[in-house]
Amino acid sequence: MAIPQHISIIMDGNGRWARQQGKIRLFGHKAGKETVREVTTECAKIGVRYLSLFAFSEENWNRPADEVKGLMELMLKSMIGERDTMMKNNIRFRVIGNYAHLSETLLEAIRQLEADTAGNTRMTLILMLSYSGKWDLLQAARRFAADTLAAGRELPLDEDTFASYLATAGIPDPDLLIRTSGEQRISNYMLWQCAYTEFWYTPVLWPDFRTKDLQQAIDEFNKRQRRYGKVE
Ligand code: FPP
Repeated sequence: MAIPQHISIIMDGNGRWARQQGKIRLFGHKAGKETVREVTTECAKIGVRYLSLFAFSEENWNRPADEVKGLMELMLKSMIGERDTMMKNNIRFRVIGNYAHLSETLLEAIRQLEADTAGNTRMTLILMLSYSGKWDLLQAARRFAADTLAAGRELPLDEDTFASYLATAGIPDPDLLIRTSGEQRISNYMLWQCAYTEFWYTPVLWPDFRTKDLQQAIDEFNKRQRRYGKVE
């Protein structure tokens, strides 16, 4: 059984899960956080090297203020509360996204946890926070243009060079992208990075997603033939 080197997950369905229980949306996000814990532990155990989680998109800032506030508090609390577990399990933590929209308190917690876990080598857990694919492409293009201007000449640009300007520089592209809750779209996620990623969708809502569902996704991944546009 091949274990994907990089698994990425669009964690969807927290709101619907909460509604089914007659609770507010934040209740679903809190339950979703427990799933994050279970899935992270399992991925580290089976040998996944990178696990990236779409926790909050640039578009999500348009949600009701109390939901946004609650989600940010949940992230902050998790970054402080899960530190010891990450250290014990040798997990490196990273946050990728548009830092310009994050509060100073959250940024400080991110910097602290990234620094504390920088030497951990078993698996890298990446929280895609205030992230969107178009934002990433634009910031890469802007920075490349600035470097060109500074150099005073046209700099050569190939795929590897462009990828080095993306917020995900240094991280291999996802091999497997999982999306929960039955939605089947990319939702402005890693647009460049998912060029050859295998997609797997499940109707299961994120708070209900368990190790067995992850296993099913990996089983399915193993049945796929990745040809990268070539003929076998
Ligand atoms: C999508 O469900 C989920 C989110 C926008 C937030 C994801 C956050 C978590 C899983 C919890 C926090 C995570 C960490 C790492 C602390 P939705 O609200 O779009 O659900 P819906 O489509 O049913 O409305």
